[in-house]
Amino acid sequence: MMGLTRQDFERRDAEDPLRLFRDQFHLPEGVVYLDGNSLGALPKRAQERLSRVVGEEWGEDLIRSWVLHDWIGLPERVGDKIGRLVGAGQGQVVVGDSTSVDLFKLLAAALSLRADRTVILTEQGNFPTDVYMAQGLIELLGGRHELRSVSTHELSAAIDDDTAVVMLTHVNYRTGALLDLDALTEAAHAHGALALWDLSHSVGAVPVDLDQAGADLAVGCGYKYLNGGPGAPAFVYVARHHQSAIRPALSGWMGHESPFAFEEVYRPAGGIRGLLVGTPSVLSLIALEEAVDLHLEAPMTLIRAKSKLLTQGFVDLVHQECSQSGLRLAGPEEADLRGSQVSLRHPGGYAIVQALSRQGVIGDFRTPDILRFGFAPLYLRHVDVWDAVRTLRDIMATGSWDRPEFRQRASVT
Ligand SMILES: Cc1ncc(COP(=O)(O)O)c(C=O)c1O
Repeated sequence: MMGLTRQDFERRDAEDPLRLFRDQFHLPEGVVYLDGNSLGALPKRAQERLSRVVGEEWGEDLIRSWVLHDWIGLPERVGDKIGRLVGAGQGQVVVGDSTSVDLFKLLAAALSLRADRTVILTEQGNFPTDVYMAQGLIELLGGRHELRSVSTHELSAAIDDDTAVVMLTHVNYRTGALLDLDALTEAAHAHGALALWDLSHSVGAVPVDLDQAGADLAVGCGYKYLNGGPGAPAFVYVARHHQSAIRPALSGWMGHESPFAFEEVYRPAGGIRGLLVGTPSVLSLIALEEAVDLHLEAPMTLIRAKSKLLTQGFVDLVHQECSQSGLRLAGPEEADLRGSQVSLRHPGGYAIVQALSRQGVIGDFRTPDILRFGFAPLYLRHVDVWDAVRTLRDIMATGSWDRPEFRQRASVT
């Protein structure tokens, strides 16, 4: 049987219904960017709007802009837009703070909503910040609660009547494996527990329908597939039926019912706005809004279809071109079971990622041996997949990755 050729990938590009989106991004010449799951590319319109907002709104209108240009409405407005990408009806998503801080808010809310229960259940290998935030909260609350971590296949069975909240990341940051959000939410509810989803590696790349799944709580990053820019604020989702029962743990003035009344006593705003804490990061929210608006122009079914074709193309090509390289697939073989990411394993993973980057193929490394490649369907071409794997093949075949300069660890990997 004939193997895959570059022409096959060119044909996929010609047939790609999303191909025109690439031109909406600033992408450096000669780079194949497979790290949009860490930091999304720059949408040209975000750059343009930012420079307008800085010059005109900040520069000229100054503090009047909070009202004049509705800066104050950004967290809710952008929240509702992100809500459309994750199946959340209006008034359930708000944007602000980091994913870590938002996790803290939601874990605290979950433990107070299920005050008679003591367990936060999670998956072994969940992203460290999710685990750390739970550990810190448990300590703060006096150690009465327990964080229980189990393997993926034990999750459903581990939910019991002590479980207050099941805290899971939809797409695993290391392997790209996708959890069944609907089934696990249902399993949590069957025992009266809440379901808290971290959608950092899903939003903008994998279809999610929080309302339909009956999810209780969710968070997600703004700077990965959403392309909101470095350190973009995160989003938080609280299902409407929980909102009035939550007393925010971080009782900042922006979540007060009436911030500019400057009252002596905290009174939480009703609804999702109560999850806000301090002054919104206007410039970051502006960039994120433009990026999300662009995303909303692409149907999620097309995004997912392209994502699967990209990741499967990469997997198939690695099998075809790199079978002698010692690289092994770290995540699922089947496209339906993964997010928009493919991970490979190799003891020399760090150096290989550095060597690839030197050749213009940018992925990233996760300890101890994971080479991680993200596939952002809005700006990647199918030929990028071909070119990336051919570069990988050459690096592995020549052993050119195996040099001291590529082993020098940087502070960010
Ligand atoms: C699953 C997951 N949650 C959270 C984060 C990061 O949270 P923060 O934006 O607070 O740094 C990441 C970052 O990669 C992540 O992969």
